[in-house]
Amino acid sequence: MEDKHPNMIPIPVRDLIGGSTSPVNLYVRIGADKFVLISKAGTKTDKERLQSYENKTVEYLWVKREEYGFLMDSNITIAGVLVNQKSLTTAQKTLILSQAAAGVFTELEHIGLGFETYSHARQIVEATVALAESNNNLNSLLSSLNDCSDELLRHSMAVTSISVLIANALNWENKQTVEKLALGALLHDIGLKALPPELVNKPRALMSFEENQQYETHPYKGMQMLLNLGVVPDDVVAIVYEHHENAIGQGYPRKLRNIKMHPLAKVVALANDFCELTVPGINNPTARSPREALVTIEMTMGQPHNKEAFRALQQVVNREYAKSA
Ligand SMILES: [Fe+2]
Ligand SMILES: [Fe+2]
Repeated sequence: MEDKHPNMIPIPVRDLIGGSTSPVNLYVRIGADKFVLISKAGTKTDKERLQSYENKTVEYLWVKREEYGFLMDSNITIAGVLVNQKSLTTAQKTLILSQAAAGVFTELEHIGLGFETYSHARQIVEATVALAESNNNLNSLLSSLNDCSDELLRHSMAVTSISVLIANALNWENKQTVEKLALGALLHDIGLKALPPELVNKPRALMSFEENQQYETHPYKGMQMLLNLGVVPDDVVAIVYEHHENAIGQGYPRKLRNIKMHPLAKVVALANDFCELTVPGINNPTARSPREALVTIEMTMGQPHNKEAFRALQQVVNREYAKSA
């Protein structure tokens, strides 16, 4: 039962960071409006015990709405520490980061995009940039994301990591620029949250003309959501608005050409297409390899993206094959 509740926020058990101390009370839902306390604030979250409690199929634990922020702060702090731990593999680190990022997406869904959620997203981005920069192993980054159950989260984390790798290959050295790029990448599809879930979960190929038109409003809706916050840098807003544009003017919503596109949006637009091909999802049940994805962008799609960014992505992918050869 993951329905919404006015005062309680669901946490997928799989997204709890096991073995850490939860700063908040955790509840199990036993009825529409009935919750039972199963783990007090300050006790260690033993995932196995929680999962076996009462009902083996407990998928969600619940947290009081007003306490959710504490849980997020603590998860993000833990994730930030663990990501720097040398003894963990990239896959383990990506999992931890995705779990923390999942919290931001839950927050978006149940509380909305407020200042707190935005600042959590920024912290996730800092750790994601650090991870992608310290370990630019493309395949392990991409495959570690396959464990992530939420499609939008999986896609957003992938686009963030790939955007950072492209920026590195372009030798972008300004840390603030790279963090803005990553934040725009993480939030690029946030406008989908303003559309009916039935529409978002429908494969594009099955959409009617009207549904397709509605779907294509998501960059504009996302831009509006960020503008309403009033604190989001213009560069980040531009990424969200322009992530479906392309260099040859065949994107949407404004059919901008390369010269008119925001420099950061050029990178995210390419990373977005690349990740739609390489990370499985409703529109792409069988993922292509990074190399196949490059060929598809070049041959089937006619390489509509910014040339420098595309060359940089080719470099990232080829470096990977050179390493494994
Ligand atoms: Fe999108
Ligand atoms: Fe996207």
